[in-house]
Amino acid sequence: MGVSLPLHVVILAAGQGTRMRSDTPKILHCLAGKPLLDWVIDAATALHPAQIHVIYGHEGEKLRQSCTTPGINWVYQAEQNGTGHAVQQALPHLPDDSLVLVLAADVPLITDATLQSLLALHSTPLTLLTTVVNDPTGYGRILRDTTITGIVEEKDASAKARKIQEIYTGICVVNASHLKTWLPKLKTQNAQHEYYLTDIVRLACEEGLSVQAYITQHPMEAQGVNTRLQLVTLERYWQVQQAHTLLLQGVGIVDPHRIDIRGSLAAGRDVLIDINTLFEGSVTLGDGCHIGPNCILKNVTLGQRTHILANSVLEDTHIGNDCTIGPFARLRPGTHLQDACKIGNFVETKNAHLDNNSKASHLTYLGDVTIGKNVNIGAGTITCNYDGAHKNKTLIEDDVFIGSGTELVAPITIARGATIGAGTTLRDNAPAHSLTLTPNKQKSIADWRRPQKE
Ligand code: UD1
Ligand code: CA
Repeated sequence: MGVSLPLHVVILAAGQGTRMRSDTPKILHCLAGKPLLDWVIDAATALHPAQIHVIYGHEGEKLRQSCTTPGINWVYQAEQNGTGHAVQQALPHLPDDSLVLVLAADVPLITDATLQSLLALHSTPLTLLTTVVNDPTGYGRILRDTTITGIVEEKDASAKARKIQEIYTGICVVNASHLKTWLPKLKTQNAQHEYYLTDIVRLACEEGLSVQAYITQHPMEAQGVNTRLQLVTLERYWQVQQAHTLLLQGVGIVDPHRIDIRGSLAAGRDVLIDINTLFEGSVTLGDGCHIGPNCILKNVTLGQRTHILANSVLEDTHIGNDCTIGPFARLRPGTHLQDACKIGNFVETKNAHLDNNSKASHLTYLGDVTIGKNVNIGAGTITCNYDGAHKNKTLIEDDVFIGSGTELVAPITIARGATIGAGTTLRDNAPAHSLTLTPNKQKSIADWRRPQKE
């Protein structure tokens, strides 16, 4: 019956999250680099609902600023008087002929697939998402006779009820018209003196309506986060899940317990990822790429057969085929390398474009620079791109050779085929196919004695 009605999602997010013991609201704590609230909003968005309503109580400004999904209806709950009271705040925004999906912002790993299954089962006015767990401590227990008769919270449960292993996930779907009649009837006569949303199950039963449950087989999806320990447990679970998925896709991961993906990682054939690697944002690795140990890649694309050696850090960087980076390289935002380039140890790049087969092998800073093909940058080369007020550009054309220990004072152009002598401080453009150097006449002082300590 439900599927034809417009879907309104109500996300409960007003709790303070006291047990996190943090100044940051609980739902802004991150799992795999994404705030808990965003995980739930993303799952809800995938259902294409008519509207998402987020019930908030604390730090509304912070929540709104952190949330990137447009079109959320933010509903303020001034006092946190329980989950039933929270949903009540949304009632004025819920059309009578709509279907209401209630989600908890602290249950981040719920998937749209599970929510679809719950919605597909919904045929009476109220359907619960439940699961069976080994340790039900802290959760509301599902009371069943021949059918569901209620949910009892841990704090209100008898010793017998506490043994029940089927728990309420905090997620349900309910017809708005019924919700509107039930919520005003909630009472606070319970251990926590709160309006429990879960009491609508008993109210439905009292009206002779049957309450259904979709029992998910994925208990981790239903796991709530109340403490940092629970958060880190879910984080580790999720990271290993992602590693397993990639391994089954054929990606070589040396140790699935020593890779972290905070975003999305797409990898081609015969990619090898060594230990202690961190991938953030959107990362794409072409066929045959190798990532050495202790590397961090954030918003990076690599072509084919490119090797990133140990301890390299890359951000907002695009690299072509057959390049070698590192060990100990730092590629900062705006680095674009074409094919067969080499960036060696202790080289930093920023807004640097290198065309095919150009190399900077050691101890170099390349900032705001465009470099042509077949260029060799000697050890200890520095683009002096900053004059204290402005960033200035360096242009190095094809086939240039820059000797070691050279300073290139931008703005400056080094024309095609030029050679720059070692130790040069270049302040003017260098002409094509010439050797340019700033000769310092070398002198020697005979019988020089170094100062001695007293
Ligand atoms: C709730 C359920 C419990 C279920 C568990 C699943 C109730 C009464 N209990 O318990 O049956 O097993 O979730 O995780 O519903 N919130 C508000 N305003 C409030 C109170 C809570 O927005 O006034 C929000 C919280 O921010 C949280 C969600 O509602 O996102 C659940 O509240 P919480 O206090 O964590 O409930 P639990 O004790 O976990
Ligand atoms: Ca909770």
